[in-house]
Amino acid sequence: MHSFEELSKQFTEKFSTRHFPEQPASLYDPNEYFLSLGGKRVRPILCLMGNELFDEIVPDAWLVATAIELFHNFTLIHDDIMDKAPLRRNMPTVHEKYGESTALLAGDVMLVVAYDYLNKIKSEHQRKIINLFNKTAKEVCEGQQLDMDFEQKESVHLDEYIHMIALKTSVLLAGSLKMGALLGGASKGNQEDIYAFGRELGIAFQVQDDYLDAFGDPAKFGKQVGGDIMANKKTFLVIKALESGTPAQVKELRRLMQENPSDKVERVLTLFREGGVDKWAFDLKEQYINSAFGHLDNIAVLSGRKQPLRDLAHFLVQRDY
Ligand code: IPE
Ligand code: IPE
Ligand code: MG
Ligand code: MG
Ligand code: MG
Repeated sequence: MHSFEELSKQFTEKFSTRHFPEQPASLYDPNEYFLSLGGKRVRPILCLMGNELFDEIVPDAWLVATAIELFHNFTLIHDDIMDKAPLRRNMPTVHEKYGESTALLAGDVMLVVAYDYLNKIKSEHQRKIINLFNKTAKEVCEGQQLDMDFEQKESVHLDEYIHMIALKTSVLLAGSLKMGALLGGASKGNQEDIYAFGRELGIAFQVQDDYLDAFGDPAKFGKQVGGDIMANKKTFLVIKALESGTPAQVKELRRLMQENPSDKVERVLTLFREGGVDKWAFDLKEQYINSAFGHLDNIAVLSGRKQPLRDLAHFLVQRDY
């Protein structure tokens, strides 16, 4: 069995070849730029771990992992346009550096190149993998639309938030694990459990992302801190603050979201702090991580084989970047 660090090193080596033609450089350089910024490579590693849980890693798993990481990066390029984000991985976003039109096309072509890799796999499960990939991609779009719709809504229920983050984020983590498991010949029951593990883990992962967007250390997080507050994203932080604040605090928060004063981020952060955000974040992550581990326990392989996934899960909900 391989650890996150080992798989990350191997994947990064294989992935750091050129994925795009040279010309036109105005289209492909932005993609090479973005991929060169790195990232945690969580999803391809989940695919490889999902595979290794059931078998030795097969050659196709590297191709699927590559397709998944390209897909993820495509979603980030477009997400940064939608979220008006200036920074990612401590560097300017693609649209910031090259303009929005180029960022749109660069993202589009990255998605197509992801399919080139899926097209190369030899596994008898290719069709199933592409079906799951497509289902996942559609769900990510649905989640991203809900995320934007919620910006305009005065309030959102915690259940709606969970549903939205499950779509925009969790299904890709879950799908990555399941694609790996499919390649490893996992039984139907094991496929379902590994998917459910990824779904619950992915929710805790996005909760941590939303927490860091408000309270992260800008130097480590690599993204603009406070971006979600500026965009009126309905994260669990806003939901909980509206739910548990005093009438005066709720009124203040609603006014800040409507009027967007120049000190909005600071003042919203104060309201979050007064409400005890650390405990909210901890409880929510705890709930989903426990549920995730329940599904991991159900998978019918020797417990020792699951250790890399347990370690990775703990890292993902405690990370500071
Ligand atoms: C960012 O994902 C998008 C979310 C779903 C929160 P990551 O935090 O995995 O981003 P990178 O690839 O490591 O930069
Ligand atoms: C993004 O959620 C999810 C996808 C890219 C599909 P966020 O908008 O919170 O991700 P970051 O914080 O920009 O990485
Ligand atoms: Mg977003
Ligand atoms: Mg974003
Ligand atoms: Mg975020």
